[in-house]
Amino acid sequence: MDSIPSPINAGMRYSPRNPTSRIRDPSQAGSVRSIGSGTVGRDGQVMYGVGGHGDEVPIELLQSVYLSSNAMSPNPDTGAFPMPASPQPESVAPVHHRSHSLSSDRFSPNSVLDWPSAVSFTTRTTYPPVRRLARAQKKRILVTGGAGFVGSHLVDRLMFLGHDVVVLDNFFSGSKCTLSHWVGHPNFELVRGDVVEPLLIEVDQIYHLACPASPKAYQLNAVKTLKTSFIGTQNMLGLAKRTKARFLLSSTCYDEGKRVAEALTYGYARQDGVDVRVARIFNCFGPRMSLDDGRLVSNFAVAALKGEPLQIYGDGQATRSLMFVHDLITGLIALMDSSYSEGPVNIGTVDEGTVLSWAEEILSLVKELRAAGSIAPLPLGQLESTIEFVPAVVDDPPRRKPDISRAKEQLGWEPKWPVRAGLEETILYFARQLEEGQN
Ligand SMILES: NC(=O)c1ccc[n+]([C@@H]2O[C@H](COP(=O)([O-])OP(=O)(O)OC[C@H]3O[C@@H](n4cnc5c(N)ncnc54)[C@H](O)[C@@H]3O)[C@@H](O)[C@H]2O)c1
Repeated sequence: MDSIPSPINAGMRYSPRNPTSRIRDPSQAGSVRSIGSGTVGRDGQVMYGVGGHGDEVPIELLQSVYLSSNAMSPNPDTGAFPMPASPQPESVAPVHHRSHSLSSDRFSPNSVLDWPSAVSFTTRTTYPPVRRLARAQKKRILVTGGAGFVGSHLVDRLMFLGHDVVVLDNFFSGSKCTLSHWVGHPNFELVRGDVVEPLLIEVDQIYHLACPASPKAYQLNAVKTLKTSFIGTQNMLGLAKRTKARFLLSSTCYDEGKRVAEALTYGYARQDGVDVRVARIFNCFGPRMSLDDGRLVSNFAVAALKGEPLQIYGDGQATRSLMFVHDLITGLIALMDSSYSEGPVNIGTVDEGTVLSWAEEILSLVKELRAAGSIAPLPLGQLESTIEFVPAVVDDPPRRKPDISRAKEQLGWEPKWPVRAGLEETILYFARQLEEGQN
């Protein structure tokens, strides 16, 4: 593969211009790796791509769409906006140029210097390269909830693989910014809509992810969350039935809405012959999680970056098994494309750690990235974060460690990313978001 200059090198203030050699050697605890230079996987081998055989996408390509940014903020010292990103990499497929009349040059952000809180969104001059697929191989794929954390990574992967992707999202907890790099691409459509309303389109596959996932989001309007789980799933299953599309539900444990969604899914399979898959997802994290959604990794990473206390609910001895988002996406695609439809498949890792141990790991990683010059130093005089214990919350599961033997046997899938490598990318992403003022 041609070497693709990572846009993070063009835009980030700290790491990119200072690309210290940071491939992480598992034997060197504490060292950090360089984005774009390969990631050491769980087996000790350097990974350059993610995905199954024949479906691999270069990691650098994926990083280029979530660690770079379309937003420009003025330099806090000079007030000037950075120059637009350098030209995009050579593509492996035809490049579709946007209309020059819409070029962001017309709205040069430097003309608004006296407008200090302005953010100017830039457009790419080319789209990221996508695989060229023969007509027979190219699928029309609907991703509901595609503007959310997991959905947007799934969309990236499916787009890079060359498929036609339609996203249906009401932007309740998702954001158009997660997909802005695809808007206008001939293989991509973004539909603002709600799954509780029927949708009439023709598709081959449906990944049904639409549902608020963080406790903060789904508790905000419990009735709407239930309607989304029940009526939304029913509508998408109805669409699958009508179009004979394969349907994949992103489920989880312990949740009433998901229980009914799973029951409906298997009901449509038994009664109407809909071809269904159910993935039960466990504690996934990665770039594009909301900074303030109250999940473990975002809570701890954002607090550590801001120099605020990392708050642990309870004594910190509850366990969580964390999975990096690229592993989840590989698992979801493997499940969708597999012939296994008998029952739910757990997608997660068995890297069980106490909440306290994850807090310590994230805090030490933030310190290392600061020391390596990859993220901004704390303001002068501000002390590093500490860990603080606060009263436990109700219904917090004491233990989370999925049995992933079915995924291994039926899909040949297992997680490849060491948690620490995923945490590094996530922290770099959050640092960037905080710099841009998304806090
Ligand atoms: N992230 C995890 O660790 C995890 C764990 C278990 C299950 N899941 C499931 O995976 C899916 C995606 O989770 P996520 O972490 O990306 O959450 P997210 O909140 O980032 O994404 C959900 C997306 O669905 C959209 N949405 C919500 N209600 C909708 C509606 N009525 N109509 C259309 N769009 C709607 C939101 O705007 C958002 O873009 C969810 O179904 C979630 O339950 C995730």
